[in-house]
Amino acid sequence: MLLPKLPLRPTKLFASATPPLFSTSSPPPPSPPPPPLKLPKPPLFLRPLISSATPTSLHSFHSWAKSLALSTPPDDPDPLDPNLLLRELQWLLQDATGDVGRSQNPDLVPLRADLGDLYGLWRERVLERRPFQYVVGCEHWRDLVLWVGEGVLIPRPETEVVVDLVKEVVIGRSGRGDGEEVWADLGTGSGAIAVGMGGVVGERGRVVATDLSEVAVEVARFNVERYGLKESILELKAYEGLTRVLVNWLAPWDKVQIRQGSWFEPLEDVKGKLTGLVSNPPYIPSRNLPGLQAEVGRYEPKLALDGGKSGMDHLIHLCEGSVSYLKPGGFFAFETNGDEQSEFLVDFMVSKLENNFRDVKAVADFAVIKRFVTGFRS
Ligand SMILES: C[S@@+](CC[C@H](N)C(=O)[O-])C[C@H]1O[C@@H](n2cnc3c(N)ncnc32)[C@H](O)[C@@H]1O
Repeated sequence: MLLPKLPLRPTKLFASATPPLFSTSSPPPPSPPPPPLKLPKPPLFLRPLISSATPTSLHSFHSWAKSLALSTPPDDPDPLDPNLLLRELQWLLQDATGDVGRSQNPDLVPLRADLGDLYGLWRERVLERRPFQYVVGCEHWRDLVLWVGEGVLIPRPETEVVVDLVKEVVIGRSGRGDGEEVWADLGTGSGAIAVGMGGVVGERGRVVATDLSEVAVEVARFNVERYGLKESILELKAYEGLTRVLVNWLAPWDKVQIRQGSWFEPLEDVKGKLTGLVSNPPYIPSRNLPGLQAEVGRYEPKLALDGGKSGMDHLIHLCEGSVSYLKPGGFFAFETNGDEQSEFLVDFMVSKLENNFRDVKAVADFAVIKRFVTGFRS
């Protein structure tokens, strides 16, 4: 029997004239994609050799750069130190040049930037006061060489002490307990403190670091990876019953993990569990920002410097947060602007956050300025 042909289900090419049952308004237009993140250039000394120059042309560059360094106007109220500039010139050349022995042409010096770019970089350094660390894209800090650039604070020598303070506590705690120890670095910037801590927190320790700035987070992640702290192997040991059979699991984990967000926000999973917490937050009173040295005020990120009206906004927030994020006996260390802020903070923690902390004290930096406030959660 011949079956009647079923009418084909019409394909809907046009919108129906009958109104839909729900939602009449047209969907909102898709939001434009966020602009791509502008990251600073990687450190000059890590860039590939892309160019070359004759020894004569390099010599001409050196003579020109030297005379520019020595020609800063005498009436400049904030002058550059010519001796420092001459040292920086040497470092710039060291970072920019490759090994002549590896060159195809023994008459040419291999370069990591075009010679024209080196002229431009040196002009920026001397005439526009761009920090040398941004010019070469790195800073030497403790035993590390860290990527830095616009958008990321250049780590300062005094901050190195924070890592020593942590190391002291880790040594003092060794042999105690056998669980994992989690340390936090809040406002990590280039990741300097976090990477430094990664090297001192011991086998059972790991570091979680936060920053609000997307650029800082990317730069810190790069520095963490470069020092091999991204994925480590955690060896968990367990004993099975009376036979005490040793079982080893090998699990990849981050020795230092960088998370984006404001202060404690990305740390919910470790709330109340931190063995230690450190921070070098922005602490410059807002009114002092216009008077900063040209290199700092013009180039370093305001987000890393501005501590609010008295400079204490972030420090107070961090002290208060430490009450709930540190575990009992947990250590803290905060960097401040110096004497007055440290004294204020010690007083604040002892009087306003009474019973929550013990052994709260100010600790001096290399220049005998009371730079840090340290103590323990009760
Ligand atoms: C003084 S810098 C210190 C950077 C780095 N720890 C060091 O010592 O070189 C302060 C850092 O705090 C970050 N920061 C500012 N506000 C923040 C916030 N609300 N949450 C997290 N980080 C913040 C800045 O981006 C900056 O990297």
